[in-house]
Amino acid sequence: MPNPLENKHVALGVTGSIACYKAVNLASKLVQAGALVDVVLTPPATHFVSALTFRAITHRPVVTDLWDPQSELSMDHVAMAQRADIVVIAPATADIIAKLSWGLAGDALTATVLATTAPVLVAPAMDAHMWDNAATQENAARLKARGVAFAGPIAGHLASGLSGMGRMAEPSVLLGHIKAVLGRKGDLAGRKVVVSAGGTQEDIDPVRFISNRSSGKMGYAIAEAARDRGASVVLVAAPTALPDPAGVAVVHVRSAQEMLDAVVKHARDADALAMAAAVADWRPASAAAQKVKKRPGQDTLNLELAKTQDILASVKSKRLVKVGFAAESEDLEKNARAKLAGKGLDLVVANDITSKDSGFGSDDNRVVIIGRDGKAVRHGLMSKYEVGHRVIDRIAALLK
Ligand code: CTP
Repeated sequence: MPNPLENKHVALGVTGSIACYKAVNLASKLVQAGALVDVVLTPPATHFVSALTFRAITHRPVVTDLWDPQSELSMDHVAMAQRADIVVIAPATADIIAKLSWGLAGDALTATVLATTAPVLVAPAMDAHMWDNAATQENAARLKARGVAFAGPIAGHLASGLSGMGRMAEPSVLLGHIKAVLGRKGDLAGRKVVVSAGGTQEDIDPVRFISNRSSGKMGYAIAEAARDRGASVVLVAAPTALPDPAGVAVVHVRSAQEMLDAVVKHARDADALAMAAAVADWRPASAAAQKVKKRPGQDTLNLELAKTQDILASVKSKRLVKVGFAAESEDLEKNARAKLAGKGLDLVVANDITSKDSGFGSDDNRVVIIGRDGKAVRHGLMSKYEVGHRVIDRIAALLK
């Protein structure tokens, strides 16, 4: 099971902001995902949350004071900095952002950042005016120019009672950013992957549409797997109930036509296209401008449908690796092979939609991946994220 956080050393710096309580949640999520989390608390942070809280969650020593002779870690924070796969500062105050931009090293956290060669991810949290202040903006820009990654801040309610830009990104979102940063040097580094997901909606009138049961989970999982292996990812998403994945450029569309336009545009300079979306094959021949009313005594309504344009067939770039999906209820491999040939694909990912434990809405899937050579690789039941990695394995091999 691919898990980008398994046994990864995460140095988590926590600074003095009311958003400290979210850092506890983040530490817990990281530990649950298999990471080894070393927490460094700045002295102001200890006013909001105690070292004991983090120690109980991470089961590892927590550093609060660079000069604490009792702490094995504080004396050896350079070793901690060196073994870190990533340094995450969440929440990051205006003060720490300023100190980092100057390269100060007077406390345990700044010294750790200065001593590490690992990537650094900063999740700012502060009052909106402090974030907007030219000094903070300049400091953040300087850090970004040095390769420091930023997640947030996001807009919303602030502790000051105001609302604005300054909330720390949610821990679940930060987890996505952490995976993206850890995956920067993966086998798709420098590659652009376009993924489509969800079921398109074809309007009948201003309130009604035709759609399908696609949850979007398979496409979102492929987008995340590609992100976690270093690709720059564009996810063209038809409506789903899923949150936008962190570290992925999401283009929201509704209809097959909108999806076609977005995919054609973004695939132009892409290395791979994975069409996991359930694109409508048919749309109402003309969408009514006004709501369609039922007439007294009317028992039937005929809807004329017109064929939509095939997106995979419309994207014609020789260097693009094209991956199609075949959701079948019978003759799985035969039908999938026909799609592979008919649509000029490099790979087709086929799944049986009649299976109860996989397919629509499920977090798991059981797929057969067939390449141009006709060879079929049958995978057992696994998470959609893992299927995503198996698809990316094949894409990466074709791009070599
Ligand atoms: N697809 C596409 N453009 C369309 C329709 C589908 O690119 N207008 C893509 C899907 O994203 C998927 C693959 O083609 O990758 C599915 O092929 P398709 O023949 O449309 O599957 P079904 O609709 O299931 O076809 P059939 O009714 O023939 O089984």
